Amino acid sequence: LNYRVPQTRRDIFQTLIKGLQRLEYRGYDSAGVAVDGSGKDHAASISLYKKTGKVKALDEEIYKNNSIDFEAELDTHFGIAHTRWATHGEPSPLNSHPHRSDKNNEFVVIHNGIITNYKELKKYLVSKGYDFESDTDTEVIPKLIKYLYDNRENDYVSFSTLVERVIQQLEGAFALVFKSIHFPGEAVATRRGSPLLIGVRSQYELSTEQIPVQYNCSNSRTDEQEKNVLNRRGSTNALHSVHDRLAVEFYFASDASAIIEHTNKVIYLEDDDIAVVVEGKLYVHRIKRTAGEDPVRVIQTLQMELQQIMKGNFKAFMQKEIFEQPESVVNTMRGRICFDSNTVILGGLSDHLKEIKRCRRLIVIGCGTSYHAGVATRQILEELTELPVMVELASDFLDRITPVFRDDVCFFISQSGETADTLMALRYCKQRGALTVGVTNTVGSSICRETDCGVHINAGPEVGVASTKAYTSQFVSLIMFGLMMSEDRLSMQQRRLEIINGLKKLPELIKEVLALDDQIKSIADELHHQRSLLVMGRGYNYATCLEGALKIKEITYMHSEGILAGELKHGPLALIDKHMPVIMVIMRDACYKKCHNALEQVTARQGRPIILCCQDDPEISKMAYKTIELPHTVDCLQGIISVIPLQLISFHLAVLRGYDVDFPRNLAKSVTVE
Ligand code: G6P
Repeated sequence: LNYRVPQTRRDIFQTLIKGLQRLEYRGYDSAGVAVDGSGKDHAASISLYKKTGKVKALDEEIYKNNSIDFEAELDTHFGIAHTRWATHGEPSPLNSHPHRSDKNNEFVVIHNGIITNYKELKKYLVSKGYDFESDTDTEVIPKLIKYLYDNRENDYVSFSTLVERVIQQLEGAFALVFKSIHFPGEAVATRRGSPLLIGVRSQYELSTEQIPVQYNCSNSRTDEQEKNVLNRRGSTNALHSVHDRLAVEFYFASDASAIIEHTNKVIYLEDDDIAVVVEGKLYVHRIKRTAGEDPVRVIQTLQMELQQIMKGNFKAFMQKEIFEQPESVVNTMRGRICFDSNTVILGGLSDHLKEIKRCRRLIVIGCGTSYHAGVATRQILEELTELPVMVELASDFLDRITPVFRDDVCFFISQSGETADTLMALRYCKQRGALTVGVTNTVGSSICRETDCGVHINAGPEVGVASTKAYTSQFVSLIMFGLMMSEDRLSMQQRRLEIINGLKKLPELIKEVLALDDQIKSIADELHHQRSLLVMGRGYNYATCLEGALKIKEITYMHSEGILAGELKHGPLALIDKHMPVIMVIMRDACYKKCHNALEQVTARQGRPIILCCQDDPEISKMAYKTIELPHTVDCLQGIISVIPLQLISFHLAVLRGYDVDFPRNLAKSVTVE
């Protein structure tokens, strides 16, 4: 929002589009922008432009539009823009943001996050006569604000009060920015669970010393205060302005990379903050004050370069994505597990559940890391569904012309949803009449579109070629499927409860593992000159070994093999001597004793294993060259915990060996050729 900073419409579009391009690394499948309409009273209408594809496509679309007067100079203007990574509804102009309240664009909104109670809200709003045009969760927000505006009790409702009422109805995660023809030149933004910051740029030098940067947060405004806001009679006790200077620009963004070229002065909003810009002044308020909360929001000066901001403090996207896992697994579970009633609902499968329960077997198909997610969950799926489960590499499955029947249910696991081998296996199974289920991270991808039903893993965009957070989210998604299938089996209730409790604690345990990063790095320091690295385990952790070895191969270019410890004496033991680095995964589960045997065999050949084990296991520690002690969880979830040290080791090894972690040679993120 620029206030009394004259700019041409071209400049405004450029700022918005450039900002979106900076955010494209977070994912893109469509983009959109809303600006004030043309004409004399430009703020009396809102123009929307949306386009599927990369931001560049939107940019080209706008510049092709003859009806836009790009040279028109605007004194005060508020525009919003969004690049979408779909979670509900395929990428299309209708599904892309900004979303609108009605055909007149009275209220327009951009949203990051997921509204989990959107179905209930939509039902209510439809019953009140509001028409929906998209398949998204977001669209309930502009409809809801218009509903509240249309049904306001008195004339002087403020924009921020409306937003305050909206967020009281929302469940889930969101960062929202609102624009309205009823409140020209005003911006309202708020967040809960999704990041949102405000950049401030003024013609005056801003610094933390010069500007009163501390804003009180207080209770909701009274009607009298409300009137003051509306009548522009200055600030109230509830609202403290950033500063009183006139010409100023505000940039709302989900991440600093979008705005850093304009300003390095930013305010990070807290959950449930409502930020309002009225007449060039910024106010931050909250619905109610809770004990212990920080009553100030401080302007911070960012020192970082653009590239650094995109990756935060991380050296590579892969590292960032490894560290995102406490949140990404929560996003996978959000709105799907009810911890009070111990129920799991995967909305995308509900309609087909009966059919799935009647099937003869499950076939889980994928490539690379996605295949490993199938291997990792096979045993628990067999246990919870009581069905035979085949886990297949897509290419091999096709090579074998594997028999598939109408009463098979075939799962296609794919981060990108575009992997050619997996897609071809999907078409193959479809032709044979099987029910097809997609498990992808990319809404609207080919696998999403072509499967009968599916689960979005909602891990957020993954940039690093070596997949990390997608693996743990695929893992969690497949476990949730098993839980959903076993809901009405009395004999399994105890087991289900144990797993659901384990899932609840998962984010905390992942954080505990991430805290071992320094220790893991020192192990990598020791290993990085080696040529080869074996990773050994069995049972629930066999997949951990395969996945760990794949990470090591992919980005460190060391030879690495994931070895099933049960096969040790049938070949791999010949590789063991005091020089061969070996990592063993020995967790406290049904395979513990057998793993212990394998360990004896390794140490008897003078092997010096680095062991991933559970905390407080002196038996194991005594025989290990080094141990990485991990928190213990339910056997079938342990693989989520034990894979993380291997992700971290591969990352550190690659850095120490001087390789580009995010873009390993010869590999691509999405392999769309056979
Ligand atoms: C490529 C990527 C891997 C990924 C595999 C499957 O090989 O480099 O990281 O695991 O494809 O990709 P998908 O998108 O289907 O999960």
